[in-house]
Amino acid sequence: MSTLSRTASRPARLAVAGGNPVRPPDRGWPAWPQPAPEAASALTSVLHSGRWAISSPHAGELYERRFARMFREYVGVAHCVPVDHGSSALVIALESLGLDYGDLVLVPALTWVATASAVLRAGLVPVLTDVSAQTGCVEADGLDLDVGPRAVIVVHWSSVMADVPAIVSTMDSRGGVVIEDAAQAHGAQWLGRHAGTIGRLGCFSMQHGKVLTGGEGGAVVTDDEHLAGVLEELRADSRRYRSDQARPGELDLTETATVMGANFCLDEFSAALLCAQLGTLDEQHEIRNRNYAILGKLLDAVPGVRLLGPRPDQTRLSVYEAPIVFDTLPEGRSNADLARALTAELGVRFYPPREPLDRSQLLRPATKPALAPLARRFNELHRDRRFPNAELLAGHAVLTHHSTFLGDEEDMVDIADAVAKVAAAAGDAW
Ligand SMILES: Cc1ncc(COP(=O)(O)O)c(C=O)c1O
Repeated sequence: MSTLSRTASRPARLAVAGGNPVRPPDRGWPAWPQPAPEAASALTSVLHSGRWAISSPHAGELYERRFARMFREYVGVAHCVPVDHGSSALVIALESLGLDYGDLVLVPALTWVATASAVLRAGLVPVLTDVSAQTGCVEADGLDLDVGPRAVIVVHWSSVMADVPAIVSTMDSRGGVVIEDAAQAHGAQWLGRHAGTIGRLGCFSMQHGKVLTGGEGGAVVTDDEHLAGVLEELRADSRRYRSDQARPGELDLTETATVMGANFCLDEFSAALLCAQLGTLDEQHEIRNRNYAILGKLLDAVPGVRLLGPRPDQTRLSVYEAPIVFDTLPEGRSNADLARALTAELGVRFYPPREPLDRSQLLRPATKPALAPLARRFNELHRDRRFPNAELLAGHAVLTHHSTFLGDEEDMVDIADAVAKVAAAAGDAW
């Protein structure tokens, strides 16, 4: 491995200001998504199967059942309930707990809006919690237990896992439940245990940008047999899979109706795609993780810049977005400026993280009549809450998508060179 980046010794004009880019525009980047070898035949077989949905009459084994089995074996857990989106996974995971209307659920301030909006959709109130500036995840000692939360949703953020075992023991002492939002962490491991399997329930998204994708999709995993049955009903209009074998033309779902559900079912095309894509996930992890380590080393040589890294107990990384943190911003420049400059140098998209949720324009519960009472409580609870670490990362990090890491070491050298060039740029270089 080369340990030296090709950084020029004197400051060069940035590409964003008309200078030469670090990477020639004709050198492309790995595409995303990358169809697995069996993807096309799996999709074609659904097309001609006479069965595109789990709620249609029986006509042989469902890809949805196959994916549930494959994914629960992959993460090492007893039950997997596939759903149509990661957001739905969070909604039914929360609903399965049978909490009371208006109960409080801790949610990180730095995450995609769905983590918090799912809480509201489940009739509960999210209480935003600051994250660690080192990991971007909530920590056990940062949980506001004084508000009396019934649960916490722990997000594994970008590439880094939260210390879920520590959070579970803190919440256990108060009778609170831990749900893992592993939408960004398929295959990540903490001391050999998969993200999503350490808390009571784990939720995944298989939307287009995720490391495992079926276009849209999601799943809840759990070792709790009772919750698994409830989750099935919650995602299929109060129906579960029947225990006996359906004959052709009969339905596989039966109306058990112990709770009121909705339709969050995964369709057969996405399920077939997911079965195929799962076969390439670990191979891609290896490539991304090797490149992530190379980039981390290269960036050690750039003053004031770090690649957010895992704690020693995280034994496997799942890179969703790579957060490059500029602890020192060039004078007069924001991380959004740096992201634009890096995009121009490299020809691949870099972008700042989303703003913390307390000022996200996407979190608008008061606009829905059903959520208005919860929105009032949310506003009261957040009048005086501040999230300095979430603000710090939102203002100093620059992200790039995991597909940027599916190439080789030369790509990492280009990124490190561009980061060094942009970090050193001042005055007329822009
Ligand atoms: C942390 C997190 N939670 C939840 C979701 C929601 O997943 P979906 O878009 O599949 O509904 C996402 C999607 O980006 C996410 O990143």
